Amino acid sequence: MSENVIFCYSGTGNCLDMAKNIACSLGDTDIIMMRSAPVKTDVREAARVGFIFPCYAGGAPGDVLSYVRGIQVSPDSYTFGIVQCAAYPGTGLAELDRIIPLRYWSVVTHQCSCIWLFPHTLMRPAMSAEKAQQRSEKLAKEIAENLRAGVVSEKKPPNHLINRAESRFWPAIARKKAAGFKVSDACIGCGQCVSLCPKGNIRLKDGRAVIGTDCIQCLGCLQYCPRSAISLGSITEKREHYHNPNVSASELTEPIIHVD
Ligand SMILES: Cc1cc2nc3c(=O)[nH]c(=O)nc-3n(C[C@H](O)[C@H](O)[C@H](O)COP(=O)(O)O)c2cc1C
Ligand code: SF4
Ligand code: SF4
Repeated sequence: MSENVIFCYSGTGNCLDMAKNIACSLGDTDIIMMRSAPVKTDVREAARVGFIFPCYAGGAPGDVLSYVRGIQVSPDSYTFGIVQCAAYPGTGLAELDRIIPLRYWSVVTHQCSCIWLFPHTLMRPAMSAEKAQQRSEKLAKEIAENLRAGVVSEKKPPNHLINRAESRFWPAIARKKAAGFKVSDACIGCGQCVSLCPKGNIRLKDGRAVIGTDCIQCLGCLQYCPRSAISLGSITEKREHYHNPNVSASELTEPIIHVD
């Protein structure tokens, strides 16, 4: 077992990039992905156990919290949680803290992946994708220093009523929204979106992707499509696509990434 374990969910790469940067600073880290059920859940031998995931509509994405409930962590391990968001962190960390008490937590803002809602550069504070990436890498180093020093957060993570309400209604909205996906003639049937989908909601039919409605709106399929063949309303055809520049689609589907 590695000295450090980070459980990570990432739709468009920002959280996996943060996990990799922290792992590089800490050394000897297993990043266990939570796009589907984690392949390893007993991490009682790890000295540090962390969780990194984005805020989706005021809460934790998809099945992340139910996966967390199945993870065994030693009470002696140093635990931490990091949420990435465009502007506000929501209640994901507070809910995580209720399942696995966190010694340290942090929030990092980065580019917005929700293309149908905002252009990706609309984040708080607003900045270009390049600047946001540099800032995220700098913050990852600072967080890793805090983790090495065993810093304990003084306050509990945020838990606002409005975000709790938002995240409660989100799964039904996400499924409804998915009925609007369109796949254009540009699709080459490469199957990348099929492997990327955390819900198994995409299949190939006659050489073209077909998207159903069992969707958490991670938007990985749309943002990573090499032919920009997937849209969700006309605005998404015009807007510049975004995914983290340092994370490939195939990395997102790895069950475990080890960093020495
Ligand atoms: C469906 C969806 C909902 C989102 N909801 C929020 C939100 O409530 N608050 C926020 O600040 N950012 C929100 N975002 C932005 C993401 O949290 C942010 O872009 C994050 O860096 C994405 O991480 P990833 O690339 O690892 O998936 C949302 C993004 C998506 C796709
Ligand atoms: S990733 Fe794009 S090109 Fe490849 S199958 Fe999916 S929609 Fe088609
Ligand atoms: S259909 Fe696309 S947006 Fe929906 S869960 Fe699958 S990959 Fe994510």
